[in-house]
Amino acid sequence: KILIVDFGSQVTQLIARRVREDGVYSEVVPFQKAAEAIRTMKPKGVILSGGPESVTTDASPRAPQDLFETGLPVFGICYGQQTMAAQLGGQVESGHHSEFGRADVKVLSESPLFQGVWQVGKSYPVWMSHGDRVTKLPEGFEVLAASENAPFAVVANEQHKFYGVQFHPEVVHTPQGAQLIRNFVRDIAGCKGDWTMKAFREEAIERIRAQVGTGRVICGLSGGVDSAVAAVLIHEAIGDQLTCVFVDHGLLRASEAEQVVTLFRDHYNIPLVHVQAQDLFIGALEGVSDPEVKRKTIGKLFIDVFDEEAKKIGGADFLAQGTLYPDVIESVSFTGGPSVTIKSHHNVGGLPERMKMKLVEPLRELFKDEVRVLGRELGLPDAFVGRHPFPGPGLAIRVPGEITREKLDILRKADAIYLEEIRNAGLYDEIWQAFAVLLPVKTVGVMGDARTYDHVCALRAVTSIDGMTADFYPFDMAFLGRVATRIINEVKGINRVTYDITSKPPGTIEWE
Ligand code: XMP
Repeated sequence: KILIVDFGSQVTQLIARRVREDGVYSEVVPFQKAAEAIRTMKPKGVILSGGPESVTTDASPRAPQDLFETGLPVFGICYGQQTMAAQLGGQVESGHHSEFGRADVKVLSESPLFQGVWQVGKSYPVWMSHGDRVTKLPEGFEVLAASENAPFAVVANEQHKFYGVQFHPEVVHTPQGAQLIRNFVRDIAGCKGDWTMKAFREEAIERIRAQVGTGRVICGLSGGVDSAVAAVLIHEAIGDQLTCVFVDHGLLRASEAEQVVTLFRDHYNIPLVHVQAQDLFIGALEGVSDPEVKRKTIGKLFIDVFDEEAKKIGGADFLAQGTLYPDVIESVSFTGGPSVTIKSHHNVGGLPERMKMKLVEPLRELFKDEVRVLGRELGLPDAFVGRHPFPGPGLAIRVPGEITREKLDILRKADAIYLEEIRNAGLYDEIWQAFAVLLPVKTVGVMGDARTYDHVCALRAVTSIDGMTADFYPFDMAFLGRVATRIINEVKGINRVTYDITSKPPGTIEWE
């Protein structure tokens, strides 16, 4: 086991992810709880994360001083390196040495940390992001690698197995960073590497039981992977203390609602309330064409309907959500600080405050691909687990302008054909998200001998790692031609098809 002490960096969970990828269990605890965690968890090694504070101020956080007497290997990253240096008698300076972005570090001496990864005398790219830097090493420490602006880029006291790096090995911008972490975790701390998602499942179940006790939990299902995995996991932990609520807003894709209901009721036998709120939502959206107003209308109504159902069920103490780690980071910048709202995501925030319930969020530490692995582990069908992400406001944001039932029906048919062709071509899993958009534009066409005057359908498909940036998918033209022909022939109301070749940025994935 590895203990990760969090000093508040935005990327601490990435350290945890890297350790999990090495097959080693890790826990992230805030620095205030580190001393207790060292006693109770009995880790084989400790990683100190980065953080926004400056070690040079008195009030800034520290690692427990005893840590350095436990004999445990310690790996300090950025702020973690600085506080370790300061706590062991070295010096840190602030101010003039800020460094953000790529730097090259030159390896000066051999170390178990570099084993099989970095060679003496060579330089390697790393990702720096710091305002302070270590200026004097504590006794017993030596420099293992240096960069132009960070003479102490990697330092160590090999005898005590204390290592410190100025850069961030946990981010992908440090190409061999994951291997350095692996060397620390596996070779230096001596962890075995036999931990799997199966183990995560068992631990998560224990945590849910400990949190919920005999309380009752309700979980909103969206039809997507995250809420489904959260619900199945929670059901495994506490059985029928869980009730799922599926608010059907009438903005789902073809046959999606039935799939969710069948999966939960028949396959898993999980108590499920299917709220038929289609008329309510479509009524509320009448005359609404501004994208943000649409999103807010749907978000607010969703909370109202959900709240009402929860009251009917009664006595629930906990609200379960399929929040993932990227939602945690994104929602921070969505609510606080100067960053602008590009799009308001209705499923993040709002609900818990309103309902005054405690949250159960068993997927909070995981990334999307890890949730998929967990979903398979829990026996969810492959086709369900591998589904593309689908936005909370559903098809409403794929019909720019005002929505009507008729437009939604047309869009559902076109979208189903497009996805069927993608699946048949074996491309579904290569694509992050693919969908059709029904434009509020009509154009002239000719079919048989008659003039037509119908809607334009735009097709979108992108590749992405996390939805934050995306590239359009390079289909071959014959494929696109086939899809267009089918849509125009089979879907009444569409007479023209276009393909969207915008990447993100500057575009977004969804059209609204
Ligand atoms: P954009 O359009 O901002 O989308 O590039 C990035 C990813 O987020 C999804 N998305 C949403 N998901 N509620 C959600 O749950 C929303 O309101 C929402 N808006 C966009 C989008 O489908 C893509 O995967």
